[in-house]
Amino acid sequence: MTNTPEAQRPPLPRLTELSATAGCAAKIGQADLHRALSHLPQHADPRLVVGHATSDDAAVYQLSDDIALVETVDIFTPIVDNPYDYGRIAAANALSDVYAMGARPISALSFIAWPMAERGPEELGEILRGAADVCKLAEIVIAGGHSIVDKEPKFGLFVTGLSHPKAIVTNAGGRPGDVLVLTKPIGTGVLTTAVKRGAMAPEDLRQAIESMASLNRAACAAMLAVGVQACTDVTGFGLLGHLGNVLRASSIARGQAIGARLHIDEIPWLDHAVDMAADNICPGGSRRNLEYAAPNVSFSASIPTHMQLLMADAQTSGGLLIAVAPKKLDALLMELSQRDVAVRAVIGELLAVDDPGAIAVV
Ligand code: CO
Ligand code: CO
Ligand code: CO
Repeated sequence: MTNTPEAQRPPLPRLTELSATAGCAAKIGQADLHRALSHLPQHADPRLVVGHATSDDAAVYQLSDDIALVETVDIFTPIVDNPYDYGRIAAANALSDVYAMGARPISALSFIAWPMAERGPEELGEILRGAADVCKLAEIVIAGGHSIVDKEPKFGLFVTGLSHPKAIVTNAGGRPGDVLVLTKPIGTGVLTTAVKRGAMAPEDLRQAIESMASLNRAACAAMLAVGVQACTDVTGFGLLGHLGNVLRASSIARGQAIGARLHIDEIPWLDHAVDMAADNICPGGSRRNLEYAAPNVSFSASIPTHMQLLMADAQTSGGLLIAVAPKKLDALLMELSQRDVAVRAVIGELLAVDDPGAIAVV
């Protein structure tokens, strides 16, 4: 056998072809996750203010009266083919959980799984450059990390943040009457799947890529300026799944059944997302999300199945979902606008209901 010259080698597969599921759509489903997590002991350390029990965005450990440590990790498979964009998106997504807690990131560690023999170090360098550029916007550096050889690429960050213990925004503070505000459009799961299947041109993914690569930093600053009740970011479990986590945590915290009403006409969609969903394009993770949410969700009869799936579409690096007291809504919208947060959609409200976590989509 002779050596194949460089030019005649078959082209490498696209990054997204190396994994079956992409981005946050690769998350383990909520039902299986809860079953597995039930083996973890409940934490007894009173300084662990937020642990895994409330499915919040990050763990919070109180170091002193004034300082709380916020810790989170997010790693996923390639969501797009361009390595630089993959790195940006992975970094923005990991940082998002710190912003969702109302905290300020201070440092990050990277995790890399990479098929080095097949693809070499160049693309990996681009992934890291993308991540570093986004971290720079967050005013932090990647301080270190860990890497392994793996057939399926994976990349992400462990992020550490700081906050005042009293300034932490959890999933558990929602009250009936609070208004729900969302700061990025929905549809990244459907759109990245459409490109993967060749149903949409990669150029049409630009808006989604820029949305996924943008930080929730400004939205976080806006909500801190106003003071809000609860917050999470919309990622792999979709809008319905992450809202469900807020409703359940808030119901337990208040000892009252809290649900929500969502107005489907107010939900901001990424371009092409509704068309692609209507063409039956949907990642497996989004179908799983809708199945998991279904017992708690009622849809108006006029809402077709593909729109129901979009409400559960597995997002990567989605926006903040904020519950704010009605009297502070205008102030929040103004703070968001002043910080150039382009999407500030008022999508629904929390309600007192019979079953905790019940969601009506109208
Ligand atoms: Co989160
Ligand atoms: Co996360
Ligand atoms: Co949260």
